Amino acid sequence: MSKLKIGYVGCGWMAQKVHIPNIVGLEDECELVAIAEVRPELGRKVQQRWRIPALYESHTLLAKDKNVQAVCVSGHWAGQGEIAIDLLNAGKDVFMEKPMAMSVEQAERILEAERKSGKRLMIAYMKRYDAGNVMVKNLIDQYRASGELGRLQYVRNHGMPGEWTGGLNTPMENTNETVPNPPEAIWPNWLPKEHQKGYLGYLEKYSHNINLLRWFLGVENEQVQVKSATFELQAEQPYPKLVLLMTGVTVLKINGIITVIESGNVKCHDWNEHTQLYFEKGWIKTETPCLLLRNVPASVEVYRGDLAAPCTSRFFPENGRSWSYIEEMKHFIQCLRDGTPFRSTAADAMNDVKTMEAIYRKHLKTLAHEKDNE
Ligand SMILES: NC(=O)c1ccc[n+]([C@@H]2O[C@H](COP(=O)([O-])OP(=O)(O)OC[C@H]3O[C@@H](n4cnc5c(N)ncnc54)[C@H](O)[C@@H]3O)[C@@H](O)[C@H]2O)c1
Repeated sequence: MSKLKIGYVGCGWMAQKVHIPNIVGLEDECELVAIAEVRPELGRKVQQRWRIPALYESHTLLAKDKNVQAVCVSGHWAGQGEIAIDLLNAGKDVFMEKPMAMSVEQAERILEAERKSGKRLMIAYMKRYDAGNVMVKNLIDQYRASGELGRLQYVRNHGMPGEWTGGLNTPMENTNETVPNPPEAIWPNWLPKEHQKGYLGYLEKYSHNINLLRWFLGVENEQVQVKSATFELQAEQPYPKLVLLMTGVTVLKINGIITVIESGNVKCHDWNEHTQLYFEKGWIKTETPCLLLRNVPASVEVYRGDLAAPCTSRFFPENGRSWSYIEEMKHFIQCLRDGTPFRSTAADAMNDVKTMEAIYRKHLKTLAHEKDNE
């Protein structure tokens, strides 16, 4: 089978630290034939470092390159959805970083472009490609089908991350060029301006958690119910460069199961996130490694209280010495080569955007209610 010819848009942090090295490393499956970067000197430096044949100063120019079959995008959160639309319209299959969109309105435009173009869009929710999470997903499905641990009754996701890079020391090019202003973000039209940064903070981080929980619980095509949401904005930091995290609790009902997300941040040398799924007679627990720590999968623990001698088992997954970000890129390439569906489609990610809007609306209602009762 011939190698997939890939173009890459946006040569910033995620591109240089994660995706470009991963694509170049998959040399039997693909070829990185072109990049686009709006900062010309940075583009040149990245082109030279990775010996990439073609360089363009914008994604619209790269979109015209007939040699490029598929494009990966990691741009500004406000602009990357619009870049994806242009690339789909130009007839390219697209892999784009999360979040897919800032609002349901923008997500609908992206899905419309995908439908009309007949091309495919994959959203880079790498947690679905972590070998530990794949094992957890299989165990959940297995226990729910067999009923041996009783009913799945409650899920808790604790996400108070600290450090996420895990000492990743992949070299990176930098320049003093100013980053051009991104396009105006397409916020939900009901969202008050003073709440935009809080909304963005939650969306940037917890769209990952919502996406993973929906996959674990098997509701790819259903909206999640939001029971309650209450947060406090964590200490002010320069906006919008630094994303703000929201300290609080969200209670969802996913596929009929009460699911809690604890959010916030803690100064920690490591990534502090775990998910525990409580059945009537035991649980499955998984801890997320530092995201950019290579070849360390999410842990997998099963407690069985139904046995004569109750016990806890820890498993190391098949293909465990792998990195979720490489696995997601392999998946993208493989699906384009053999036509199989993506595990993290854009249509599915629409449910994260809908859930996000519903969570934030609930939070604003809670604030209004508290104010009324003052
Ligand atoms: N999956 C994850 O774990 C994860 C982690 C961090 C960030 N992200 C996501 O990745 C995205 C990118 O983050 P980053 O830290 O790499 O950002 P960044 O600002 O470092 O990089 C974006 C790059 O895109 C370039 N660019 C913008 N518009 C362009 C255009 N039209 N054509 C060509 N180049 C263009 C910018 O000049 C910049 O170099 C964000 O949306 C973020 O949410 C995902």
